[in-house]
Amino acid sequence: MKVTVVGAGNVGATVANVLATKNFCSEVVLIDIKEGVSEGKAMDIMQTAHMLNFDTTVTGVTNDYAATAGSQVVVITSGIPRKPGMSREDLIGTNAKIVKSVMDQALKYSPDAIFIIISNPMDAMTYLSLKDSKLPRNRVIGQGGMLDSSRFRYFLSKALQKAGYPATPTDIDGMVIGGHSDKTMVPLTSIATYKGIPVKQLLTDEQLTEAVESTKVGGATLTKLLGTSAWYAPGAAAAAMVEAIALDAKKLIPCCVYLDGEYGEKDLCIGVPVLLGKDGMEKIVEYKLEGDEKAKFDESVKAARDTNSKLGDALK
Ligand code: LAC
Repeated sequence: MKVTVVGAGNVGATVANVLATKNFCSEVVLIDIKEGVSEGKAMDIMQTAHMLNFDTTVTGVTNDYAATAGSQVVVITSGIPRKPGMSREDLIGTNAKIVKSVMDQALKYSPDAIFIIISNPMDAMTYLSLKDSKLPRNRVIGQGGMLDSSRFRYFLSKALQKAGYPATPTDIDGMVIGGHSDKTMVPLTSIATYKGIPVKQLLTDEQLTEAVESTKVGGATLTKLLGTSAWYAPGAAAAAMVEAIALDAKKLIPCCVYLDGEYGEKDLCIGVPVLLGKDGMEKIVEYKLEGDEKAKFDESVKAARDTNSKLGDALK
């Protein structure tokens, strides 16, 4: 399997690094517009191959899309990251132009690829990439839910620890749907479990709310601490999606995909549970959202539509 990662910034380099260490790709091409950065990061990653015991070849190129030809998966991380105080939505004008041009160039050389979009505001960038490329919806998938769900598991494990249970994130099952947005993502507390036990039965409403709110601003908290947006978890999340596709694992992962009637919505890309396999998004898993989770999902849909309306000319 050949994978291209566009953008050799923190997130893109982490995707390439995690993919290499997982050792299931034959080749990972890292491409960036900044002269030398991809080459340097790829070389640095390759110099860990002996120690970390992988055979994946990571190659770095500057703006040479011919080197990406024939990729089965293309991960797009290009664009500017947010700075402290910015929302993901603030990046729309700049990143729409970048993502569109990257998508055009990458698609030219890898016409059969599945595209994973990470650039923010991710839900809008996924919608734009899908509309602009006219690809079938199974092949354009946004990464957000995997990351947010992983953050949710982390914050739930912290809450459980405080409540006296020695939980680690791997003990927790939990999912976040809706937009990848501080205000409107929807951590699903109703189905979150600790080794199968509903967390609702172990945590107070206050403890649950704290875990939910920390998850929602998880990216913003890190942006404040780091001065730029996070990369380890976003990169690992995209690599996990590539793995599910590469191994045809048909894993249930919340991803941003185009809805055509599912969850009662149309003409919108937003996070819902999907099965990821060799064809990309192979199935949207629909289940009945209950109580305020349905209302919160509806709010998230409204916010995502509002952000899409700001794509303006980029959509033409
Ligand atoms: C985050 C960015 C990458 O949530 O969206 O960290």
